Amino acid sequence: MQIRGMFITFEGPDGAGKTTQIGLLSQYLSRRGMAVVTTREPGGTPLGDDIRRILLDVKYKGMDPRAETLLYLAARAQHAATVIRPALAEGRIILSDRFADSTLAYQGAARALAAAEVAAANEFATAGLIPDLTILLDGDPAELQTRRQRRGAGDRIEAEAIAFHRRVRTGFLQLAGKEPDRFRIINALDSVETINSQIVCYIDEFLHRREKQ
Ligand SMILES: Nc1ncnc2c1ncn2[C@@H]1O[C@H](COP(=O)(O)OP(=O)(O)OP(=O)(O)O)[C@@H](O)[C@H]1O
Ligand SMILES: [Mg+2]
Repeated sequence: MQIRGMFITFEGPDGAGKTTQIGLLSQYLSRRGMAVVTTREPGGTPLGDDIRRILLDVKYKGMDPRAETLLYLAARAQHAATVIRPALAEGRIILSDRFADSTLAYQGAARALAAAEVAAANEFATAGLIPDLTILLDGDPAELQTRRQRRGAGDRIEAEAIAFHRRVRTGFLQLAGKEPDRFRIINALDSVETINSQIVCYIDEFLHRREKQ
């Protein structure tokens, strides 16, 4: 039998709980004997981590949106080619903290770059790689901001005005509306445990459905 990997992405606003939930899901899947790879964007590779530092540095406040997009995409191209695709080929389950949908929501919807152009650029960067499943942690930006502020000084993107974060949220919800088979929307304001069990249900359902194919 051919081994089949699975590419799962976690999306949502800053502070929505992506990193927390990836950690829990990774433990759950590992306990079940699955080969899991956790990774993040921007980052996931040495080149990507260097680009991440530039992207989040407050000294680049006001960075041109197209320059910003291309930096994210450069990091993503390296990530897709050298981490995600090889892991998928080995039949692993990849859990990525953000991926292409973040660029559509942040640079497309929130910075008002043309959606079709950003989508085409994503496709170029990833050579057409699309997640099997995307968990969208959705919540009111004002409430999530309070959660983030408890954590101390934010990065360049977190420092954007609340209106920006509202556009990000709307952008994500629109993407989910367009691809209901790939997206699962979860209320980010629920408890860590509730969210974890919902995610586990979605993953089990997906794996079960795929076994039958
Ligand atoms: N469901 C939850 N309820 C309350 N607090 C939570 C919940 N999930 C995560 N947190 C807390 O909120 C903060 C942000 O969580 P986390 O770092 O997982 O979010 P994130 O989406 O990865 O954020 P970022 O985009 O900034 O990396 C952390 O302090 C975390 O402990
Ligand atoms: Mg995080």
